[in-house]
Amino acid sequence: MKAKFITLEGTEGTGKSTNLEYIKNHIEAAGIDLLVTREPGGTPLAEQLRELLLAPREENVDATAELLMIFAARAQHLNALIRPALEAGTWVLSDRFTDATYAYQGAGRGLSREVILQLENLVQGSLRPDLTFVLDIDVEQGLARARERADLDRFEQEQISFFEAVRQGYHERVAAAPERYCVIDAGQSLDKVQADLGKALAHWLQGQ
Ligand SMILES: Nc1ncnc2c1ncn2[C@@H]1O[C@H](COP(=O)(O)OP(=O)(O)OP(=O)(O)O)[C@@H](O)[C@H]1O
Ligand SMILES: [Mg+2]
Repeated sequence: MKAKFITLEGTEGTGKSTNLEYIKNHIEAAGIDLLVTREPGGTPLAEQLRELLLAPREENVDATAELLMIFAARAQHLNALIRPALEAGTWVLSDRFTDATYAYQGAGRGLSREVILQLENLVQGSLRPDLTFVLDIDVEQGLARARERADLDRFEQEQISFFEAVRQGYHERVAAAPERYCVIDAGQSLDKVQADLGKALAHWLQGQ
């Protein structure tokens, strides 16, 4: 079987990072080698770009500059880590990927989806995730969770209306290609979220 690429998406505080380990254990229990990574980031250079992207700053960050930095990090991450892993037969699980760019920079910042698609094609060629979990939650509820966690990064300091647009952006992505996505109600207790994730994953793995 060809190695699969699975991504985890959602607005702030939905539980992506919390549930990575759960999904990892589930996949490894099926005897599959798995690499867990994240975006922006995943390699030393891409992690440095992540720090630059997330740091709160006085200077207003131009949306196109932000978009290009994200795809610069992604090009490095894909070519240095993700593609070699997949080619070696290792599955890859990433905490966020290009759907986040459509949601945050497209729907959130208002950049052209067509431009994002051009960069996606340039950087990724035909590579797309095989399966994407979208953890969906009421924006305020997610932000309340994220705020309890640590100091707010540059994105987390945005207004509610920004995150509402981002959430809508994820819904648009799902509506355009429902077969690739699995939407999970992340407003539930962690036990219920993981029960739903486990069921969906088991069902999907059976079909592979
Ligand atoms: N289902 C849940 N119920 C209650 N609290 C949860 C649930 N899932 C996660 N949390 C808590 O919410 C906080 C945010 O979770 P986490 O860091 O996993 O979110 P995230 O989606 O990775 O956020 P970000 O987008 O900011 O990286 C954590 O403190 C976590 O313990
Ligand atoms: Mg996280």
